[in-house]
Amino acid sequence: MSTPPTILVFDSGLGGLTVLREIVRTRPDAHYVYVADDAFFPYGHHGEDEIVARVVPLIGELIEAHAPDLVVIACNTASTIVMADLRDAYSVPFVGTVPAIKPACASSKTRRVSVLGTRGTVKREYTRKLISDFAQGCEVTLVGSGELASLAEAALSGQAVRDEDIATELAPCFVGNGPADPGRTDTVVLACTHYPLLLDRLTKLAPWPVDWIDPAPAIARRVSDLLGAPGTESDTAGAEMIFTSKRPHTLSAALTPFFGGRVPA
Ligand code: DGL
Repeated sequence: MSTPPTILVFDSGLGGLTVLREIVRTRPDAHYVYVADDAFFPYGHHGEDEIVARVVPLIGELIEAHAPDLVVIACNTASTIVMADLRDAYSVPFVGTVPAIKPACASSKTRRVSVLGTRGTVKREYTRKLISDFAQGCEVTLVGSGELASLAEAALSGQAVRDEDIATELAPCFVGNGPADPGRTDTVVLACTHYPLLLDRLTKLAPWPVDWIDPAPAIARRVSDLLGAPGTESDTAGAEMIFTSKRPHTLSAALTPFFGGRVPA
């Protein structure tokens, strides 16, 4: 392990910043490289074979260029399909991001849970298996959103996003006859890393209050466990942000909080 360790965080776009933010809080000692594969965004609109063919060689190039100590695939749409191929191809430790169905079903009181992800993630065999293994008797509704990740990108980039557009994507998560129905949905799994970017809006637009389950803190704990105890040195090398489209940075002020206050190069 190098000192400070380098952690590479990868997503199709800006969603993985919600995972990065938690990892940086847990491990301020590390050096961060965040890669947004925006040239291929949104992953939710691509087939499984296309995603594997895109991500596996791209991660190889990134490992070659940045020599990370650990790679986080901060994308459910990719993690539910590429993790085995990545682990077969490269020796670096990987941490993936998959729908947090187990903790959601363990904590639901009404026993009705919704999983809100991209269309790709909700179709995956991997996601279906998580439900059959971990639903613990809960009714689980899979909701595939075609637009929410793009709406989250737009909002973080400072564009106006209409409440109606978010509410339309959210509505199928809410099963039941209103807040007094004892069988209503009470827990929604945020199964796309973009969605916590919109958490305030989701909370405001929800027809009744629910628990939103974001796996980012659990991922950060897993990363920290794999890295071992932090060194005493803090990162002096800062952090890097890479867009595969090679578009120039225009977002530094919006991005800095996700990097724990560092301005990414
Ligand atoms: N952030 C990605 C995820 O967690 C998906 C967004 C996309 O469709 O590219 O699934």
